[in-house]
Amino acid sequence: MTLSAVILAAGAGKRMRSRLPKAMHKLAGKTLLERVFCTAARLACDEIHVVYGHAGEQLRAAHPHLAARWVKQEQQLGTGHALAQVIDCIPAQNHVLVLYADVPLITDTTLQKLIAAAAETDFCLLTADLPEPTGYGRIIRDAAGNILKIVEERDADEQQRQLREVNTGIMAARSAHLKSWLTGLSKDNAQGEYLLTDVVGRAVAEDVTVRSVSPAANGEISGVNDRAQLAALERNYQLEQARALMQQGVTLADPTRFDLRGQLRAGQDVFIDINVIIEGDVHIGAKVAIGPNCLIRDTHIGDGAVIEANCVIDHAMVGRDNRIGPFARIRPGSELADDVRVGNFVELKAARLGAASKANHLSYIGDSELGERVNVGAGTITCNYDGVEKHKTVIGNDVFIGSNTELIAPLKIGDGATIAAGATVRDDVAADALALSRRDNRVVAGWRSGKRRRRTEQ
Ligand code: UD1
Ligand code: CA
Repeated sequence: MTLSAVILAAGAGKRMRSRLPKAMHKLAGKTLLERVFCTAARLACDEIHVVYGHAGEQLRAAHPHLAARWVKQEQQLGTGHALAQVIDCIPAQNHVLVLYADVPLITDTTLQKLIAAAAETDFCLLTADLPEPTGYGRIIRDAAGNILKIVEERDADEQQRQLREVNTGIMAARSAHLKSWLTGLSKDNAQGEYLLTDVVGRAVAEDVTVRSVSPAANGEISGVNDRAQLAALERNYQLEQARALMQQGVTLADPTRFDLRGQLRAGQDVFIDINVIIEGDVHIGAKVAIGPNCLIRDTHIGDGAVIEANCVIDHAMVGRDNRIGPFARIRPGSELADDVRVGNFVELKAARLGAASKANHLSYIGDSELGERVNVGAGTITCNYDGVEKHKTVIGNDVFIGSNTELIAPLKIGDGATIAAGATVRDDVAADALALSRRDNRVVAGWRSGKRRRRTEQ
């Protein structure tokens, strides 16, 4: 059996009240469309078609990396009309798997089950029994339990609304069948649209048995129609991820205040405090502790490191037993060897710090290479930008940089050099040298400000 997937993503998503197409809204850091696409890509599909339309050029432009066949639905005349736009491109003998971009958490396991069932019959629906079926189309069966049709909630009578078996929208059927059932759909319904759900009644009229399978978990089939539903899905999804991490041996101070928007590989006995956001591809070694309110993106953190509260770490390598923060910002391209300390209000950008080096307070270190055991005093600035180009600062091992120092790049400081506090260093400093730029202090004895004198004289 050859399978073609179709993702319907053209709807206006009116209930989102957004300028963006609904499929561009994100769940756990990925667009709804991308989530469904990636799931479809795990199945053996010959092609994945995406039907786009409302504000669709934005949607297409935002997903250049998806190997999709994009099909435009110029006017959004309903889900049936949407599928009709693409059905002619799919060979008659293929099976078609219909997916909705606004049902983003569907799993490949459930879809495999649906496809297997569709291979045996001609038509299979994914349906679910929901305790709260409001908003979904209902499955109408006869007394013997055979599926007769789907009734949209807006078209359902009181009795039909009591039914709890809902249409997830997801179905699999032969292309030739779908093509014939789609021609001649009517708009005679509450929405005045061509409804894909009506193909079920047409199949039954042709004596085709419509089977159904149910998802592995009901949470998979939740649709996103408004922002409240999107938020609810996000939280459920985050809780699931949190549970999986806890099972793997990660302690989360509060699983309801943890967000993973990507992949996290974590060693044993990692502790993550509240309001931590992990994005992209993150690896955290064993026994790492992450304080509250940290954002960590595409970063590797070595075993035993401690990240204190309120740090932002982006595209960086943090070595073993580092102590970072509180309030540190580590920007892309930074690499910290083992036992490094980066303290509060320190910004690193493309900076490499050798083992046991320290920058504990109020510094900017950019485009720099620091050796081992370097001490960076409070208020040290690498002046890496001359207004046109960026330049590098290279500092050897065991260098001591006093507080409030400006290092004007390009600059090289040799091993064991000392930079006195308050220096502005323009020229390279040889190993073991002392660099200073000081005028002698002037002390004026007996001086008082005029103001203070006037006050004391009153
Ligand atoms: C649809 C189903 C409903 C089901 C529910 C499950 C129909 C008629 N109804 O209702 O039975 O319970 O999903 O979530 O199918 N779309 C297009 N072009 C259009 C209209 C919609 O591509 O002209 C796309 C949308 O972008 C969306 C999907 O189809 O991804 C579903 O459309 P939506 O309007 O959200 O349908 P529901 O009212 O949720
Ligand atoms: Ca929907």
